[in-house]
Amino acid sequence: MPKIVIAIDGYSSCGKSTTAKAVAARMGYGYIDTGAMYRAVSLYFIRERISLSNQREVLAALDAIHITFNHNKRTGRNETCLNGLNVEEEIRKMYISNIVSEVSAIPEVRWAMVAQQQKMGRRRGVVMDGRDIGTKVFPDAEVKVFMTADTYTRARRRQEELLEKGEMVNLDEIIQNLEKRDKIDTTRTESPLVQAPDAELLDTSHMTIEEQVDWVIERADRRLAEIHRLSGSQTKKA
Ligand code: DC
Repeated sequence: MPKIVIAIDGYSSCGKSTTAKAVAARMGYGYIDTGAMYRAVSLYFIRERISLSNQREVLAALDAIHITFNHNKRTGRNETCLNGLNVEEEIRKMYISNIVSEVSAIPEVRWAMVAQQQKMGRRRGVVMDGRDIGTKVFPDAEVKVFMTADTYTRARRRQEELLEKGEMVNLDEIIQNLEKRDKIDTTRTESPLVQAPDAELLDTSHMTIEEQVDWVIERADRRLAEIHRLSGSQTKKA
């Protein structure tokens, strides 16, 4: 059975990771949360007091950063590790959300992360979520989804997520952060967030997670059947 790449891009807090994770589990594919990688870089920059405008410092820091995902059997989740240390909880905090868009707009940071992401997905059989997967990391992804949802819905989801982790943040602060990140993500020079021409739009404002997952799986199944049919007709011709 051939394996494909499923690229899920879109705005922050539309349910990309939850959907991508569930799709990966149902298909027996790997899941790569590329936002977590930019968050881990941001954490390193904060801890090491790297000046974002100092290219030499940024490049040296990137050389010293090693990001991996470890499967936690107890939680069943893939957890982000920065130089061998589990930083999964830390990178989800608000102080990281407040600088991650600036960090991910630095071209050198993007080049380093994109190269690692392409390596991680080179055998295919992955679901990757982010902002530039269908446009830059895997422009040849077999399934491309562009997710969106209205700002209020996204902010409420983000607030619940933070609350579950014990961080109480008011809705206005979250809305401001989302709007600021949307602006930076969509207007940066290096691979801004845009819908790839061949990506299908998925508005999750009024959808449940199950519906979102089914929607993506339906497209993946359709694509796999098409690939299967094409490879069958090629074998017959040969
Ligand atoms: O998906 P997230 O909210 O964890 O992503 C954090 C930030 O990282 C987001 O503001 C934009 C950036 N990002 C990016 O620029 N490219 C990606 N492929 C993934 C995330």
